[in-house]
Amino acid sequence: MKILAFESSCDETAVAVVEDGRRILSDAIASQVDIHALYGGVVPEIASRKHVEVIAALTEQALREANCTRADIDAVAVTYAPGLIGAVLVGLSFAKSVAFALGVPLIPVHHIRGHIAANYLAFPELEPPLLALAISGGNTLIVDVRDYTDMEILGATRDDAAGECFDKAARVLGLPYPGGKPMDELAQGSAGGVYQLPHAHVEGAPLDMSFSGLKTAVVNLAHHAQQVGQELDRAALARDFAQAVSDTLVPRVLEAVRQTGRKAVAAAGGVAANSIIRGDLERACAAEGCKLYLPPLRLCGDNGAMIGAQGYYEYLAGHTAGMDLNAYATRDIGM
Ligand code: KG4
Repeated sequence: MKILAFESSCDETAVAVVEDGRRILSDAIASQVDIHALYGGVVPEIASRKHVEVIAALTEQALREANCTRADIDAVAVTYAPGLIGAVLVGLSFAKSVAFALGVPLIPVHHIRGHIAANYLAFPELEPPLLALAISGGNTLIVDVRDYTDMEILGATRDDAAGECFDKAARVLGLPYPGGKPMDELAQGSAGGVYQLPHAHVEGAPLDMSFSGLKTAVVNLAHHAQQVGQELDRAALARDFAQAVSDTLVPRVLEAVRQTGRKAVAAAGGVAANSIIRGDLERACAAEGCKLYLPPLRLCGDNGAMIGAQGYYEYLAGHTAGMDLNAYATRDIGM
């Protein structure tokens, strides 16, 4: 079954063709990062407009690269939530029109379910049940994936997402947007251990997380250094910051493994590209005796193929939609 998949929830327009949920036939991406970098973050209205500009041409590209004609497409999958509402609406409206024109089913896909499904593309042997750590620009979740379309959030951030914190910390360190990758590169130059940063715990909710205090601590450190004319050890701060994020995530993943008895952990989302988090997860999962799945970097960030992968399993579960399907800025992953 060939699925034409659309993703437009933030600043990447992505269209892919995926076969049987596991094989990428094409994965076309038009990134808007350079435009938003001018403003230090994503400007929602600009994001929507850029999606409109490229989505039709990108669809032709995805079909061409997959060696497909429109007649080869069996279904259309699309991110319908969560994300920037205007941006999601562009992909959703386009996908609806394609599904209608081709006379094929329309499959709504939750964006974070898609991130988790990126692992099915990278690891053909991987099947649920598994535990997923979904860490992106807008979400930080520990998810019990009981089956392909049956999931429950076990832990979540109570405030900022991990990626949002990386981006904010990078900004005060003078790094470009999006800051996760440059922060990661800067951190390579230091062993850290210089800055004491807060590690928050949520009382009575051991799997939940909080990153806003960490973010504020880095902002305050940078502003204070500026005010008193002190030189910051930027590499050490980047290293200590990443370590603090990792020290928040990894023990909670292990705790969730113990609670659920799951034998597999899969990382997902843009922040899963972080080298310190990847290394810590590897060591921790090996010590705990559970198998860790770390998707390649190109499948960590937003892409269309992950929507095609999850779309396949949503289709098998009978989750298709009519032309009245709406977009949602927020939506629980369990729905
Ligand atoms: O999954 P993603 O591409 O988009 C969302 O669905 O949000 O994640 C984007 C986030 C950004 O905050 C970006 O700074 C972060 O992922 N990111 C990283 C790294 N690469 C990207 N964060 C930490 N380390 C990285 N190497």
